[in-house]
Amino acid sequence: MVLRKFKRHTAVCAVVDVLLLAVAVHSLCTHVHPKHDQVLHGVYIEPEHVMKKRSVDQPLRILLWYDHSVYRLDGEKFDLINNTILPRAVSFWEEALYVRKVEDVILLTRKCNDSNVFVKNNLTHCIDACKEKTMCGEVELPEHHLDACRTCNASAQDCTNTTSAGKGITGYDFVFYVSAMQTDRCNKSLTVAYAAHCQQEMGLDRPIAGHANLCPKSISTKEQELETLLSTVKHEILHALGFSVSLFGFYRDSKGNPLTPRRPETGKPALNEKYQTYEWSDKVIKTFERKNWFVRSGMRKRTVQMVVTPNVVREVRRYFNCNELEGAELEDQGEEGTALTHWEKRVFENEAMTGTHTQHPIISNVTLALMEDTGWYRANYAMAEPMSWGKGLGCDFVMKSCKEWISTKTARGLSIHPFCNKIKKDPLQTECTDDRTSVALCNLVKHDHLLPEIYQNFDSLNYVLQGSEGYYGGSVSLADYCPYIQEFTWSSKNVIVRGSNCQYLDNNPKPDKNFALEDYGNHSKCFDHTNQMWEERSCKQMRQWQHWGSGCYSYKCENGRLHILVGNYTYTCYHPFQEISIRILKDGWLHKGAIVCPSCKDMCEEEFLMKGQSCKLREESPPSTAYPRDELQCSAIGVYVNLMLFLLSTMIPALYSLR
Ligand SMILES: *[C@@H]1O[C@H](CO)[C@@H](O)[C@H](O)[C@H]1NC(C)=O
Ligand SMILES: *[C@@H]1O[C@H](CO)[C@@H](O)[C@H](O)[C@H]1NC(C)=O
Ligand SMILES: *[C@@H]1O[C@H](CO)[C@@H](O)[C@H](O)[C@H]1NC(C)=O
Ligand SMILES: *[C@@H]1O[C@H](CO)[C@@H](O)[C@H](O)[C@H]1NC(C)=O
Ligand SMILES: *[C@@H]1O[C@H](CO)[C@@H](O)[C@H](O)[C@H]1NC(C)=O
Ligand SMILES: *[C@@H]1O[C@H](CO)[C@@H](O)[C@H](O)[C@H]1NC(C)=O
Ligand SMILES: *[C@@H]1O[C@H](CO)[C@@H](O)[C@H](O)[C@H]1NC(C)=O
Ligand SMILES: *[C@@H]1O[C@H](CO)[C@@H](O)[C@H](O)[C@H]1NC(C)=O
Ligand SMILES: [Zn+2]
Repeated sequence: MVLRKFKRHTAVCAVVDVLLLAVAVHSLCTHVHPKHDQVLHGVYIEPEHVMKKRSVDQPLRILLWYDHSVYRLDGEKFDLINNTILPRAVSFWEEALYVRKVEDVILLTRKCNDSNVFVKNNLTHCIDACKEKTMCGEVELPEHHLDACRTCNASAQDCTNTTSAGKGITGYDFVFYVSAMQTDRCNKSLTVAYAAHCQQEMGLDRPIAGHANLCPKSISTKEQELETLLSTVKHEILHALGFSVSLFGFYRDSKGNPLTPRRPETGKPALNEKYQTYEWSDKVIKTFERKNWFVRSGMRKRTVQMVVTPNVVREVRRYFNCNELEGAELEDQGEEGTALTHWEKRVFENEAMTGTHTQHPIISNVTLALMEDTGWYRANYAMAEPMSWGKGLGCDFVMKSCKEWISTKTARGLSIHPFCNKIKKDPLQTECTDDRTSVALCNLVKHDHLLPEIYQNFDSLNYVLQGSEGYYGGSVSLADYCPYIQEFTWSSKNVIVRGSNCQYLDNNPKPDKNFALEDYGNHSKCFDHTNQMWEERSCKQMRQWQHWGSGCYSYKCENGRLHILVGNYTYTCYHPFQEISIRILKDGWLHKGAIVCPSCKDMCEEEFLMKGQSCKLREESPPSTAYPRDELQCSAIGVYVNLMLFLLSTMIPALYSLR
């Protein structure tokens, strides 16, 4: 593609004013897990043997408690958080999880002035004094949630209550303290929210109180960001409910017995020095060695850590269709807070419990299975959202490197799906996500540094100088730099202009930049363009859109066929891969381009099924007069055609720089 110089000749040309960048969005989760001395363990509800006998059949009840900071959010953000995000996130988990019913009042434990405590009659006593404030994350617990302050002197005598107990919490199984403060952690790396548990009950060690801080500046009230915000909050709540490196050591089997041996002196697992939390046994997480991990330089050894609890193993084997799979792989990269506390991004791409959100996050059966395997919950698997990444792709997909997957598939002339190998460069050639919900790009980019050997996934790449493949990889490092098709946002001068998901009206290009007559909205899907560039012609000018490849259009399923709506016209698809040429006159510009029909089955089968109809099986060639073709009417003399190529994007290698 050459950028041809053009003469500026009418005011219309001044349209080229923004520099658009296509940026893959992903916000990293760093669940800074609570260290062993930051969690209070002694919340006494009932003795262990009484609890163990209860069946796990009570829908989880979560009490939300707001810190003052939440009320200081501006009105729109408060409404979003209070009326939409929190109620939806909380009710999701309330429906997804069952617990042993808490019949008693929950009285949370006070922090002691000293880190040592005495336990007398199953009640914790501080030495000399309790702390004035008991915090859970950023939130100071209200007096009436707290148990009495019980103290003894340093030789465990003279025990008294220095304050009386509060009313406590009745009718709930978990208290979730929410704050909205712009803390240090918020300022770092664009964190949206973070959460952790802070107290565990004494009988079965179930987390019973937790907190989440929502970072006010990162809360967006834009409709297209709502899904991500909701999923972030669901994700964070789950760290507090059980998916945390600080809780693995406390997981129990289905009978309520610990999976990790306890030390007789403390009644708790041994301490793990590295993580400053309790050790877990290999009944929970086990390390495996992959001896033949195929990368650019050959076979390497690689260790993986996997959750090997029974329900998780059953679910991952079923999902990936691999009976040798040892368990569900955990993330091994990222700072403290990312590694081990999330699913491996390469394996579970858009699962909400991976360490970074890239697109369409969902809670899968695997995550629900993990919750069941904590021994504290039973899962309602009907709440799982469907996942498609890697589904049924077998052991070669889940147990081998993406390099090996890409190479073997390529050698056999097969699709390398769900990975991709088209380098993101100018001009951008967009594609569609598998489910056609979004215009997308292969996130394969040139990094500004040589990737670590174990993540070099290409021997050769089109248009890349032999020997420099080591710089190329997917933009998501947590996915082991394996490239895949991803939603993205268009941005200009660091300001997000619009996203690429078809379902949001706000993602519509401005009318004067809508070359391909796209139409975003809740009944739109992504359709491929042909190899031909879209162009726009007026009587005076011709302009070409540099980026093309796919676009969002509204569609209907009627009379056994798929119909794509472009401009004010309806184009009927008669067979898959049919190329429909478009010529539409709009506001004095003739738009020319072409769209490729997907199969009716992919787009309409479900909808037809509900209506008791079906796709016409017979493929037909379209009637020759089936499609409208607008013409540009210009006075013949003095027409001045001016060619402009619209370069609306600039490729910057560090575009996908990770935080
Ligand atoms: C204290 O806990 C132990 C073990 O859970 C239990 O056997 C005992 O009955 C409890 N004592 C009281 C006074 O509840
Ligand atoms: C917050 O949400 C709750 C439950 O949805 C509602 O009852 C309450 O009125 C809301 N608070 C405000 C200040 O809007
Ligand atoms: C709390 O502990 C500190 C030192 O650890 C001590 O100086 C202080 O007097 C203690 N406060 C109370 C109320 O006992
Ligand atoms: C604790 O109290 C007992 C009885 O009042 C007393 O004998 C003992 O010396 C006290 N211990 C300390 C360390 O103050
Ligand atoms: C302290 O409070 C507990 C309840 O939290 C009560 O059972 C106990 O009798 C009280 N002890 C004293 C010495 O008041
Ligand atoms: C975070 O950044 C904001 C400005 O962006 C600043 O006002 C605030 O004090 C910072 N917070 C912390 C805890 O550093
Ligand atoms: C989750 O598992 C249940 C049964 O174990 C199954 O019925 C359901 O279809 C699964 N959900 C998804 C989204 O795969
Ligand atoms: C789609 O959008 C239209 C108008 O924008 C609205 O009336 C309709 O309820 C929406 N449908 C869904 C399923 O969101
Ligand atoms: Zn997380």
